[in-house]
Amino acid sequence: MNRCHDQRRQVNAAERHDVVHRREMNLGFLASHNGSNMQAIVDACKSGALWAVPAVVISNNSDSGALARARRESIPCYYLGSKAHASPESLDEAILEALLRHSVDIVILAGYMKKVGSKTLRRFAGAVLNIHPALLPKFGGKGMYGIHVHEAVLAAGEKETGVSIHLVDEEYDRGPVIAQTRVPVMPDDTPETLAARVLEQEHALFPEVLQKIVRGEIAIPGYSKGKQGCSGSSDTDVKA
Ligand code: GRF
Repeated sequence: MNRCHDQRRQVNAAERHDVVHRREMNLGFLASHNGSNMQAIVDACKSGALWAVPAVVISNNSDSGALARARRESIPCYYLGSKAHASPESLDEAILEALLRHSVDIVILAGYMKKVGSKTLRRFAGAVLNIHPALLPKFGGKGMYGIHVHEAVLAAGEKETGVSIHLVDEEYDRGPVIAQTRVPVMPDDTPETLAARVLEQEHALFPEVLQKIVRGEIAIPGYSKGKQGCSGSSDTDVKA
């Protein structure tokens, strides 16, 4: 039993009924760098705000902050990259095997810089989510990652940008958007200040969307087991 389980037991009486009856959702993370989005989701599991279990973390970068965070949180984690798996097919199979071994329900791309392989995409069809630091379909696609996104937003003179969470298919940033949050662009913004403002909203949106999926308030094609019949409200622009 991991720390996430332990902390979810510390809930108030009004929530006890849900604790007994709710279904846990196992999360599998793919992350290449810092892993701050992953951490925000893990923290939400630990606080009880998100009824899910961080089941496994996989990174293609052995030095990633994501792997360091996973070790600190005692979450099973694997470095799976092109050094050990030279062909994309072999890497795809290794990733799929790790996700299945840890009974993952939903795969979360939290700053994952590679395309997900076709076997993994097929097995988890409709259950792979990515977060993107802009209002897709704007400022997405090949080359639109990290600071480049925010540079492009400023160069285009946009007055607002935001965060998108979308289902993943074979193309970068192309699958259906399931939730967005808008973020203002300030006149004196640099790519860095804008990135920081957007990232803060990413950390809020991802756990919130996942909790809505667990509770059945947002339907995604690859996860229908979590419907709890509960209602809730938020001011997030969520497309269910
Ligand atoms: C985030 O900005 C996310 O939108 C993008 O990659 C970044 C990952 O940041 N896909 P972190 O590793 O979660 O800190």
